[in-house]
Amino acid sequence: MRRITFITGNRGKYEEVRRILEPIGYEVVQKKIPYPEIQAGTLEEVARFGAEWLAERVEGDFIIDDSGLFIHALGGFPGVYSAYVYRTLGCEGILKLMDGVEDRRAEFRAVFALRLGGEIHIFAGVCPGRIAGEMRGTGGFGYDPIFVPEGEVRTFAEMSTEEKNSLSHRGRAVRALGEYLKGCVRPTRRTSPPCWRGS
Ligand code: IMP
Repeated sequence: MRRITFITGNRGKYEEVRRILEPIGYEVVQKKIPYPEIQAGTLEEVARFGAEWLAERVEGDFIIDDSGLFIHALGGFPGVYSAYVYRTLGCEGILKLMDGVEDRRAEFRAVFALRLGGEIHIFAGVCPGRIAGEMRGTGGFGYDPIFVPEGEVRTFAEMSTEEKNSLSHRGRAVRALGEYLKGCVRPTRRTSPPCWRGS
């Protein structure tokens, strides 16, 4: 079993990532290390800055996740401000903002930064869906009770972790990250470079 550190204070995110990486041979260790989340226009900029900052302070390979909910009728709000808006307005506040709004389209986006060897790699995942009319379900975390992924009638909070992972922004990004990790592993040579991708 290889080991990778997931730097996050969010147990829900950790659990989702663990369920995808463990079956492909990675023990995921959660560490809570606060790092700066800059005010930037994209999740990728936020994740990259955080990973570069951490890379100077943390030993070994790690991943971080920056994610957010982007609501079409609100011009992409709360987007990169999702964490702040969740703390201040919560799901109830978003439902109030969406009161009477017919266009319920929204998407979740996740960006993972992986520090592997000396390099930082970015993996992104998107999950289109819509904002529910009311909060439903008790599973998951954050905005899960108000988000219904495309093709579903249930919110993420009404699904098991496996079901959410099969559809979610995070599931998509982490599966891509997992594929990349698998491609980097050359099991028989101890002196292989940090990332060996074959020829
Ligand atoms: P951050 O990536 O930790 O900055 O999270 C941004 C905000 O979006 C937080 O309030 C999270 O709870 C929320 N969020 C991120 N991913 C998800 C998800 O998969 N489901 C529900 N809420 C999420």
